[in-house]
Amino acid sequence: LDYINPKLILETSITEPNEVIWQSPSNIALIKYWGKYGNQLPKNPSISFTLDQAVSQTAIAYSPKENNDDYGISLSFKFHGEHQPAFESRMKKFLESLTGIFPFLNQLDLDVRSTNSFPHSAGIASSASSMSALALCLCSMEHELFGTLEDNIQFDQKASFIARLGSGSACRSVYPLLAMWGESSSVPGSSNEYAIGMADHVHDVFTTFHNDILIVSKDEKEVSSTVGHNLMENNLYADNRYLQAKQRLNSLLDILKSGDLEAFGRIVEDEALTLHALMMTSNPSFVLMRPGTLTLIEKIRAYRKDTGHQVYFSLDAGPNIHLMYPSDIAYAVRGWIESDLQQHCEDRFWIADGVGEGPVEM
Ligand code: DP6
Repeated sequence: LDYINPKLILETSITEPNEVIWQSPSNIALIKYWGKYGNQLPKNPSISFTLDQAVSQTAIAYSPKENNDDYGISLSFKFHGEHQPAFESRMKKFLESLTGIFPFLNQLDLDVRSTNSFPHSAGIASSASSMSALALCLCSMEHELFGTLEDNIQFDQKASFIARLGSGSACRSVYPLLAMWGESSSVPGSSNEYAIGMADHVHDVFTTFHNDILIVSKDEKEVSSTVGHNLMENNLYADNRYLQAKQRLNSLLDILKSGDLEAFGRIVEDEALTLHALMMTSNPSFVLMRPGTLTLIEKIRAYRKDTGHQVYFSLDAGPNIHLMYPSDIAYAVRGWIESDLQQHCEDRFWIADGVGEGPVEM
């Protein structure tokens, strides 16, 4: 794709200082990406709901380099208004890795400021929201400096492509409602290089779906996603898993259209448990669920049986529960969270969230 890599270089003399700002959400995978190869390419296709409340906001102020002899990335990075040397050097490395695609980054002084809507130490992975916000900013810069990426589809695809290089799951955050990443013969236009928007493929019930996040533990997780992905390479079950993910994705696509919540819940819960089963069958094995995670899973299944309410759980690579349910039972579920579930959350902390409309340029 030529628009991904047009090798744009600036006439710095005509570049005015400017700023771009994007707010971008996190997402929750329904079919999980777990296992990768090459440069951040997925071993199986994945699909996710875009979230609404869990967002990052990133601003990049840029100007022609004051000291033009300086070669390389000139970056200052602040998170919630504070210098963060560890984050800054990680971001600098990432931006350096992108200079083949965005050579003009070497010609600018970059001042990046970022915030998250959720507490940093809430045990919520912020890589999807922060990497997608950053990627969107970089594409806006390209658009403003060179007049490229005028076409929205190209803009989103490039932003998704860049976000993927930062963190795989981030590539799905640039679209409203539902996004899919990874090649599938049943979805024309699907790609391992970037995600595609799937908002047109969902039944109405999902457009207002709730996805509350019950924070079982705020601790930083012991095994990073990157390490977890790599452990799939020697996992005995890996090949069957990738096959299973493809099959489940095909089934889920039909279910998302039909609005069959029971079938939806079965696949989504099985996927969450499969993800953690893969962790437990890696070598070395690891467990990211906590006792509270299992208690909540039992309570969710019991509540469903007792009330008939269609409430389901998902998990990402951590101990926290994503509670998914349709909006018509939101009042009852809220009462139940407060009376029965909140006590299993660290500091009783949970976040009311739901399916969202995707990133916003500010
Ligand atoms: C369990 O996207 O965080 O959330 O590409 O190494 O940054 P990297 O991994 P990351 O992995 C996310 C894994 C997951 C499932 C998913 O979001 O699909």
